[in-house]
Amino acid sequence: MIIAIDGPAASGKGTLARRLATHFELHHLDTGLTYRAVAAALLANGLPLGDEQVAIDVARNLDLAKMDKSVLSAHEIGEAASRIAVLGGLREELVNLQKRFASTPPGAVLDGRDIGTVVCPDADVKLFVTASAEARARRRTDEMASKGQEAVFASVLDDLKRRDERDSTRSVAPMKIADDAHLLDTTEMDIETAFQSAVDIVANARKN
Ligand code: DC
Repeated sequence: MIIAIDGPAASGKGTLARRLATHFELHHLDTGLTYRAVAAALLANGLPLGDEQVAIDVARNLDLAKMDKSVLSAHEIGEAASRIAVLGGLREELVNLQKRFASTPPGAVLDGRDIGTVVCPDADVKLFVTASAEARARRRTDEMASKGQEAVFASVLDDLKRRDERDSTRSVAPMKIADDAHLLDTTEMDIETAFQSAVDIVANARKN
């Protein structure tokens, strides 16, 4: 059983993926963390973000078990991850790793930008989770404020729009809705309602 979840930054796809994995007793991989982990290693070692071979070498040594979300969620790491995500050779390396993860029994929920289109095109269920840019920026601003981080709505909104633009217009594996994906727009939903909708979609797809 493989559930593929795609969507833009701060759409809530990560929370939904984690909760669906618990609910259906599946493994979970936040594939954004794989791009973030490579970006973080490049930044920490003062290596260029545009050198594909260097990025590939870092990716080859990536240990999924050692990825620390609390460290990798830093804003500048997300920006750097989005920038290195345009490198085709790096994507190939990370996609292979993600495919291996997905094939481990009893199955997995993977979330990212290209799961339904590239990593798991044969997934049993595909969800594309989205929300208006304003709703996503509001959630991200509130989340940062709750952690005591400084957050200005207008600049969070600008950042999200810039990231959406880069992630959906790159030439390799751009973020897009798979033809057979279920669209879940969470603009007007709280997380509990979104989760129940997602469970219903997966349960229905399993019946068919
Ligand atoms: O979901 P996130 O914010 O952690 O992702 C960080 C960046 O990684 C995102 O801006 C683009 C890239 N990414 C990608 O290209 N493909 C994925 N499957 C996941 C993330």
